[in-house]
Amino acid sequence: MLTLGIESSCDETAASISRDGREILSNVVLSQVDMHAIYGGVVPEIASRSHVEGIHSVVSRALADAGVTIADLDAIAVTYAPGLIGALLVGVNFAKGLAFASGKPLVPVHHIRGHISANYIAFPELRPPFTCLVVSGGHSLIADVRTYTDMAILGSTRDDAAGEAFDKAARVLGLTYPGGVQIDRLAADGDPHAYALPRAKVEGAPWDFSFSGLKTAVLNTANRAAQKGEALDRAGLSASFCRAVADELAPRAIDAALHCGHGILTAAGGVAANSFLRRALEEGCAKHGLKLYIPPVSLCGDNGAMIACQGYYEYQAGIRAGANLNAFPTMGIDEPPRI
Ligand code: KG4
Ligand code: ZN
Repeated sequence: MLTLGIESSCDETAASISRDGREILSNVVLSQVDMHAIYGGVVPEIASRSHVEGIHSVVSRALADAGVTIADLDAIAVTYAPGLIGALLVGVNFAKGLAFASGKPLVPVHHIRGHISANYIAFPELRPPFTCLVVSGGHSLIADVRTYTDMAILGSTRDDAAGEAFDKAARVLGLTYPGGVQIDRLAADGDPHAYALPRAKVEGAPWDFSFSGLKTAVLNTANRAAQKGEALDRAGLSASFCRAVADELAPRAIDAALHCGHGILTAAGGVAANSFLRRALEEGCAKHGLKLYIPPVSLCGDNGAMIACQGYYEYQAGIRAGANLNAFPTMGIDEPPRI
């Protein structure tokens, strides 16, 4: 079964063709990062307009790279939630037009379910149930993935998403947006014990986390150094920050995975590319006898392949949308489809 996956929820216009979900025949990603970098973050209006400009050529390329035509497709899957509403609407409307014109079934896909699906592409042997730590620019949560389409949220962030915290800390360090990957690089040469940064605890919610105190501490550390006329150890602060984020996330994810009892922990989302987090998860899982799966960095960020893959499983579960499909800025991964 051939599925076209279309993704436009934030600042990447992406499309991909999957065969039977996990085999990726093409994967085209058009990033708008450079366009948003000068503003220090994603400007929704610019994102929407760029998706409109790029989506036709991205989808055409995905079809051409896979050596297929629209007539060969069995389903058209599209991200319809959560994300920037104007950005989502571009993909949704494009997919609706294609589905209507070709008579192919339209399958709505939750963006975060897509991130989780990146693991199926990378690891052919992986099957639910498992526990997943999802850490992206807009969302951070720990999920019990019971089946391909049935998930429960075990814990989530009380304030910023992990990626948001990385990007805000990066700005304090004078790095350009999106700063997560740059902090990771700077941190490689830094002492992770250079600065004492706080760890959060959410009373009564062992798998919830919080990054606002950590973010403020980075800002205060930089301000204090500036006031005293001291040089900021940027590599040391980056490494200390990465260590603090990994400390916040890895033990909770591992504890939740042990509680679920599936014996498997996976990670997903842009921040799953972080080397400190990857190492902390590897060490923790080895210690507790959990099997760990983390997709390669290329599949951690937003892409169309994860939507084409999850779209296949949603299709198998009977999920179809009509020509009245809408887009939604927020939606839980545990909610029934809004179709
Ligand atoms: O999942 P994603 O591509 O987009 C969303 O769905 O939000 O995640 C993007 C986030 C950004 O905040 C970016 O700074 C962060 O992932 N990120 C990283 C790394 N690579 C990307 N954060 C920390 N370390 C990295 N290596
Ligand atoms: Zn994402």
